[in-house]
Amino acid sequence: MKLKVLSMLKEHKDQYISGEVISNELGVSRTAIWKVINNLKKDGYVIESVSRRGYKLVEDFDIISKDELLIDLKHFDFGKDIYYFDSIGSTNDYAKKVAAEGGCEGTIVIADEQTSGRGRRGREWVSEKGVGIWMSMILRPDIEPNEAAKITQIVAAAMASAIETKTDLATYIKWPNDLILESKKVGGILTEMSAELGEINYIVVGMGINVNSERFDDDIKHVATSIKGILGETVSRTDLIVEFVKNFEYLYKDFVESKNLEKTLRICRDQSATIGKEVDIIHRDQKRRAKALDINDDGELIVRYENGEEGVVFFGEVSVRGVNGYI
Ligand code: BTN
Repeated sequence: MKLKVLSMLKEHKDQYISGEVISNELGVSRTAIWKVINNLKKDGYVIESVSRRGYKLVEDFDIISKDELLIDLKHFDFGKDIYYFDSIGSTNDYAKKVAAEGGCEGTIVIADEQTSGRGRRGREWVSEKGVGIWMSMILRPDIEPNEAAKITQIVAAAMASAIETKTDLATYIKWPNDLILESKKVGGILTEMSAELGEINYIVVGMGINVNSERFDDDIKHVATSIKGILGETVSRTDLIVEFVKNFEYLYKDFVESKNLEKTLRICRDQSATIGKEVDIIHRDQKRRAKALDINDDGELIVRYENGEEGVVFFGEVSVRGVNGYI
């Protein structure tokens, strides 16, 4: 019932809809509707109530609703088990715990805030309350451990497509795992794996997307942005997550079940922020300048070094930095 009321309010976004209309439509009393509205307000939805006019969902709001996610993902295999937290240390850490205890493939862990969000290479990932997608997924693919990095590419492709579909913003992928809007980082992916020789126990893939963030710390503001920062309006995190999961499930199954990474790679190449650029390949203390030429069929970066020699850059080994600025 809560979701039915919510979807009626959403259909009439920015307009009042009377309690009577809602109660007639749903066949329940106006008092019952009033109670549901109060529950929605408690969940964080901002709803104006004006006597004789009814209720109005205020447009500029955004909460992640587990109920909505479960409904929207009900025809998908991913997102059947969702753990939602108002605040948590790190969704990746929690997902790893669930996975180690037998959590199934497709389990999603989401938080409205992370207090110890982690980025790659031990960096902190700032995960402010109410403005981002801080989410991890448990995967148990039947693939070789050395293929796990391809999962990162699938996540990047699925998320870049989701952002484009929901916002119409041209979204790029900085190989291998940063998402870019207007030459700044809007999101990143942290893939972690538990494996034994030749066998994956589980993979936890975490993504952090700055959706409605309005400010960034001084040390990152020259390289970081948010979707709202570019678009100028609030974007529904729930809608973006649903779109991502749909894309991801499709691309992931294509890879794991049909061994086909082509669609993912097409997106990664077409929306690459790296191909064609001069980059610095940083491996431990060594930096080598190169031109990024392409992404090969295994998702690795093909580069040409300054001495003319060509090489392949593997995931995880290196950091690729644009020569002029971030990308
Ligand atoms: C990066 O670009 O360095 C990767 C950032 C990954 C951040 C996400 S937010 C959800 C998940 N939980 C974490 O602690 N980190 C990842």
